[in-house]
Parts: sequence; structure tokens; C-alpha cells
Amino acid sequence: MKERGVVRVPGDKSISHRALILASLATGESQIEGILDAADVRSTAGVLRALGAPIPDLSSDFSVTGLGLHGLKSPDNTLDAGNSGTTVRLMAGVVAACRFSSRFEGDASLSRRPMKRIAEPLREMGAQFTFENGEDGLPMIVHGGNLSGIAWNTRASSGQTKSCILLAGLVAGVHVTVIESRKSRDHTERMLISLGVPVSVDDLSASLLPVESLSPLELTVPGDPSSAAYIIAFGVLQTEGEVRILDVCMNPTRIGFIQTIMDMGGDIEITDRKAIAGDEVATLVVRPSMLHETKIDVDRIPSMIDELPLLACVAAGARVRLEVREAAELRVKESDRISTVVSNLKRVGADVEELPDGFVVKPGNSVLAGDVITEGDHRIAMSFGVLAALGKNSINIDDRDCVAVSYPRFWADLESIRLTR
Ligand code: S3P
Repeated sequence: MKERGVVRVPGDKSISHRALILASLATGESQIEGILDAADVRSTAGVLRALGAPIPDLSSDFSVTGLGLHGLKSPDNTLDAGNSGTTVRLMAGVVAACRFSSRFEGDASLSRRPMKRIAEPLREMGAQFTFENGEDGLPMIVHGGNLSGIAWNTRASSGQTKSCILLAGLVAGVHVTVIESRKSRDHTERMLISLGVPVSVDDLSASLLPVESLSPLELTVPGDPSSAAYIIAFGVLQTEGEVRILDVCMNPTRIGFIQTIMDMGGDIEITDRKAIAGDEVATLVVRPSMLHETKIDVDRIPSMIDELPLLACVAAGARVRLEVREAAELRVKESDRISTVVSNLKRVGADVEELPDGFVVKPGNSVLAGDVITEGDHRIAMSFGVLAALGKNSINIDDRDCVAVSYPRFWADLESIRLTR
């Protein structure tokens, strides 16, 4: 089959945040290759710098000399997490274990997002929280200190909450256990284990035992499967030529979208599998496909939570029925993603119904046209960007620049495969 293009998606966002945090806490020099240079990861770098960590400008190959587990300094100013939930929730765990106070703020979207989920376990461990606007959201002050160990059931599935508690345990030097209802992304556990930290993982629980110090990292960040998802979606929805996507992270907690597209009849060949930093990485060859309806197993939702708006757009583009339930968590992402995806699909003429905890897309118009209002949400912009790049669709996106949060090269990469060679 004729080749449409080759894409190397940027480094994984979740792994990039964690790499900066762990490198700052390590004793010695960490070497990091392929980090994602995007607004969210820059927010984590900025917060760490404000706490005294010598993080250089992000580049494809750079090193960080860590301060050790107890080397962070009291910040002079407010810590600005920008649009990034991962920055504030993971760093709250880190500073909760430090004997000073840290004030976090963020943009309008982040300020509305729930922080109680991390404040509750951290309070139980001994930290104190001040919320400036009621009992949740940002700005928030974390008064850190003498933490004790905890066994915490999140009754949810959240990589950020789990990582927050594990990082608090790591810095405080206390035993922590996190139990979840469904397994969330496990990069923190894998990275800590690869650095020799005694972390034991048993299906829905992860436990960390104290260590004296953390070894530096030597890490190549694999391609982000959440960014690859947009390229995959375009690859299966267009009518000719194959797209090759290099070195995509195939961590089992992240590939729900790929598995679901394959269940829908998507022609995705997984080749060149190799192990990098405790995770599998592979090249994906994506070909035009006739997609059909599939039933979504709710256990798979956490492994594709960020890709659900895109899946809705794929269903609308392929004119197949899709029902997503038990995904109410989408309502507290960068936007209320159930509402933003449903209202925008309606705006472009698709047949879609909003549910309290999800949505139903039904086969509808073959040509989609209209104006998309992203509400500054990068994943809404990219999901509709895929539909906009297809066939006769005529879709205008109000804020194309917000893709800088996670995938700054998105429009160029999409254009490179849109134009058949
Ligand atoms: C992330 C976890 C997920 C995900 C987010 C990144 C992480 O959030 O949606 O984009 O890096 O741990 P939750 O922990 O809120 O599910």
C-alpha cells in the first residue's frame, strides 16, 4: 500500500512530568532524552525551578542534577501550574512532605478542577490545606510537614491521585499503599521500580516502602500514545495510503484507544516491538478501515480516558454507533469533556446524545460542517482537527493554538499525512 507518511509523535506527557520530578529528587545527574516540550511539562519544570531544582530549558537531550529527596527549598512565590492537573496534583504530594508552605495557582480551567481527591489523603497523612475559594479548587496552599504512612482507597481510578500519594511517601520516607477501583496508568510505579525503589504492585494496589535516597534516571521517553491516537484516527478514517507512527509507548494502562479501534475493525499493525525503560514501545502501521460498532468494556475506560472525545469524533466520522458510559470523570478534565464533545458534535451536524456519565453517537451525516468551540481544551481541538482534515468536511476550530498544551507540532504532523505523496 502507498505510504501516506511517517510520524514520530512527541514524548509521553505523563512520563515527562514524572521524569522531571524524579530527576529533581534524585541524588546525582539524570539523563533524559526525548522529553515532551509542551506547555504542561513546562509548568512542572517551572514549579520545580521555583522550589530550587536546577532544571534547564527543555530540549531533546538534557541532564538534571538532582537535589536529593530533602533538597527542595521553600518557594518565594506562588507555584503556577498553568493548565496542568498533573503538575499540581503530583507536586502537591511532593511538597506535602516538605516542611514549608506552597501556594498553587493555575489558569481558569485548572482553578475549577477538583483538588479534594489529593487533599483528603494528604491531610490524613498529616499535611494541611487552605483552599482560597471554598473547600476545593485553586488557589490552594499546602502546608507540608511530618507525614505518616497511609493505606488509602481512592474508590476511583486516577493516575494523578495514586502518584501524589506515592510521591508523598517517597519524599517523607514513609510506607504508603494506594488501592483503586480500576487500575490507572502506572508510570510512577514502573519508573520508581526501575530506579530500585521497593514498590510492590498487586493488580489494584501499589505500595511503596521508604528509601534513603533516589538514584538518578537514564531515560528515553517513548512516544505518547494519547498524541498518537489522533494520527491513528486520521489513518483509519481516510481512504488511501498507510501511516506509520514510530516508537509509541504501549504501556497496557494506556492503549485502550488502540485496542478499541482494532475491536471496531481498525487495521493497525503493531511492529518493531522493543522494551524501553520498563515499558514496551512499538511502531504502528495504520491503514484505511471500515469501522463497525463495538461494545465498550467499562474496565477499559481508564486506559483511554483522555481519548474518549476523539473516539466520539471517530464514531461520528465513520458513522457508527458508539455508547460510552461510566465516564463521568470526563466532566472534570480541562473542560467538561462530555458537554464539549457533545455540543461540538451537534454543532457540526452529528447525531449525538448526552448522558450524565457519557454519550451515545449515532450514525448520521456523511459530511460534517460547522464551527467548533474548544473552550481552550487541547484534546477537543485535536479531536475535531482530525474530522476537519477529512474528505468533504468543513469544520472551523476557534482555538487551534491550545494544542501547545500537549502536542505543539500537531497541526504540522496532521498536515504532513493529510497531503498524499
Ligand atoms: C494523568 C492521569 C489522568 C489523565 C491525565 C494525566 C497522569 O488523570 O487524564 O491527562 O499523568 O497521571 P486522572 O489521574 O485525573 O485520571
